[in-house]
Amino acid sequence: MKKTFKKIGIGLIVIFGLIQFYHPERNLSNDQTNDISKKFPVPDSVQAILKTSCYDCHSNQTVYPWYANIQPVASWLGHHVNEGKEDLNFSEFSSYAPRRQYSKLGKIVHVLDEHEMPLSSYTLIHRDAVINSTQQMIVSNWVNALRDSMKAVYPADSLKMPKRPKRD
Ligand code: HEC
Repeated sequence: MKKTFKKIGIGLIVIFGLIQFYHPERNLSNDQTNDISKKFPVPDSVQAILKTSCYDCHSNQTVYPWYANIQPVASWLGHHVNEGKEDLNFSEFSSYAPRRQYSKLGKIVHVLDEHEMPLSSYTLIHRDAVINSTQQMIVSNWVNALRDSMKAVYPADSLKMPKRPKRD
């Protein structure tokens, strides 16, 4: 029995050692060509909140903590960043079609209302990323003003998302 445990222990150590060689690609391009600020005004107060609370997963540059070098944490974080960026990337926002921009803006208000973002696994460690009610108001007011400005420019139909099956 003891021998079996020892074998399993050694096996785990070997696996842990081996996975350290795998380095997922890092999100550090910081490409700002299509940043949201290229199309919409982003006041400093809003920018500061987004940068602290959202940009690690929703922009082209993540600030990696030291433990992001250690597997399997590195892969887990990399996965979150990729998923987050795919859904919403502030650094690419200006390249989205207007109806996608309009819809994503609406979702920002929604996820803040529901306290879905930033992810709780993230705020557990990044305490400074927790959004308080004042910050929520600042971001929501900004988002709603942008949506109003879009409604004033684009015909209503062009901002509606085409109907498609709900995905979760
Ligand atoms: C630790 C990474 C992380 C942080 C930080 C984070 N998000 Fe997210 N976000 C994700 C992931 C992953 C998804 C996609 C999966 C999901 O919905 O859980 C997502 C999804 C979203 C969506 C949904 C987009 C859609 O089309 O459905 C919005 C909106 C959003 N995030 C806004 C924000 C805002 C605003 C902040 C900052 C206040 C923020 N997120 C902080 C990882 C993060």
